[in-house]
Amino acid sequence: MKSVSNATLLSAALFLTACDAPPSDGSQASAEPATDTMRMAALRDAAIASGFVRAEALAIPVDPARRDAGRLIFASTKMSLNQSISCRDCHLNEFGSTDGLPNAVGAGAVGHGAARMANSEGPILPRNVLPFWGRGSKGFTTFFWDGKVSVEDGKVVSQFGDRAPSGDPMVVAAHLPSVELREMIADTPTVRDTLVTEDVDAARTVQDELARRFADDAEIGPRLAAAYRLPAGKLAFGHVADALAAFIRDEFRIRPTRLEAFVFDRGQISRTELAGGLLFYGRGRCSFCHSGPYFSDFDFHAVAFPQAGFGKNGFGIDEGRYNVTLDPADRFRFRTPPLYNLSSTGPYSHSGSVVRVEDAIIAHFDPLRLIDTKDMSIRERADLYSRLGPASREPLPSALTDAEVRSIAAFLRMLDFKGPS
Ligand code: HEC
Ligand code: HEC
Repeated sequence: MKSVSNATLLSAALFLTACDAPPSDGSQASAEPATDTMRMAALRDAAIASGFVRAEALAIPVDPARRDAGRLIFASTKMSLNQSISCRDCHLNEFGSTDGLPNAVGAGAVGHGAARMANSEGPILPRNVLPFWGRGSKGFTTFFWDGKVSVEDGKVVSQFGDRAPSGDPMVVAAHLPSVELREMIADTPTVRDTLVTEDVDAARTVQDELARRFADDAEIGPRLAAAYRLPAGKLAFGHVADALAAFIRDEFRIRPTRLEAFVFDRGQISRTELAGGLLFYGRGRCSFCHSGPYFSDFDFHAVAFPQAGFGKNGFGIDEGRYNVTLDPADRFRFRTPPLYNLSSTGPYSHSGSVVRVEDAIIAHFDPLRLIDTKDMSIRERADLYSRLGPASREPLPSALTDAEVRSIAAFLRMLDFKGPS
């Protein structure tokens, strides 16, 4: 998705800077339909130049039988070694395929949403649950906050090394949660002794067992076998992951949005949304990183969001992409998140530290406004200082006013659509 040249973006940005003076009538936030045809045309051009396309251009058709088997697997607790948790326990429709919590609560907890958090039995995971919109559709090739599954030179790069179980990054990504310690595998001494997490052979042992369970399941087994035209005895975990991938790819595909209607079908846009859109592609610099059809460049950047929770690297620290590449230049970088359906996928950022979309935007240019530094420990402050450096070298926006932030948030709500419920 890096096909849009920076020169194109830059020339669009320069043009938009000229456009984003306040509307001539001086009005601020307004739900009234915009009428300024020149500014509307500029926004349409900028969206297209940045890679925005119709939803239908992104969809990859799936085999319905495989998808339907995947739907059952997705909701089944047989996916976890101790049969306690399913994919659906963290990826819920009522929260836009996330869990509504800052940090996910793994194997051992019960209930959903806040109830799941209140139950202290489950381990709190270091990262915010990612939603599924567009995952596995055309050009969506980089998975997880730190990009631990990606495609380079046409080859899937992941912790499987040369033994990637598939050439399809969505299928490889679907292999990982079931062997992630604490996410779907309860952290018990027995598990610690017999399985070393992230070891490919240990993962195989677990997944062979899971595949056998699904093959033996009275409802899922026959469907999976029919979908892959195999006797149940020949089903392997690869089929389970492939069915899961087909389900996610189809169920959470991007649907037409109000932005699509505006850009391609002359649909209405309010004055506030128009102002926000022009800022998004112009002076706000958002589209430097949130570009392409998913509003992500699928690259890694540092934004000094407040850090919440224990952190992937412990002591409230998450070094992001560095965990995958071990390149010091990648410390505190995260995959630019796609921006569809933000209204239902909060809280935001890799550690879920921010509740409002407006604050997520403010974190890009004024992070200290969101952080009470006095209450921080010395270690937390030290971490913050080390993250401000990399962020200061990113092409982030300079100060935006609160009204501008609100208009950008209104523009982003044009990317909400109704998915499965
Ligand atoms: C305990 C909660 C939990 C469960 C259960 C869970 N997930 Fe997730 N999922 C997460 C979290 C947290 C992330 C973000 C992790 C990260 O990026 O480091 C995530 C991210 C993902 C992603 C990456 C999305 C993206 O934008 O790149 C995929 C795909 C995914 N999960 C699929 C699944 C599947 C399939 C299952 C069941 C086999 C599952 N998950 C079960 C919490 C969970
Ligand atoms: C330099 C690249 C870059 C620019 C420019 C940028 N972003 Fe981001 N944005 C990111 C990254 C990276 C994250 C995730 C950081 C993290 O979680 O630590 C992010 C997170 C977000 C989030 C939270 C999404 C979620 O699901 O958690 C929103 C909303 C957002 N950006 C909107 C914007 C807007 C609006 C602008 C313009 C004012 C903007 N961004 C400019 C890279 C960028």
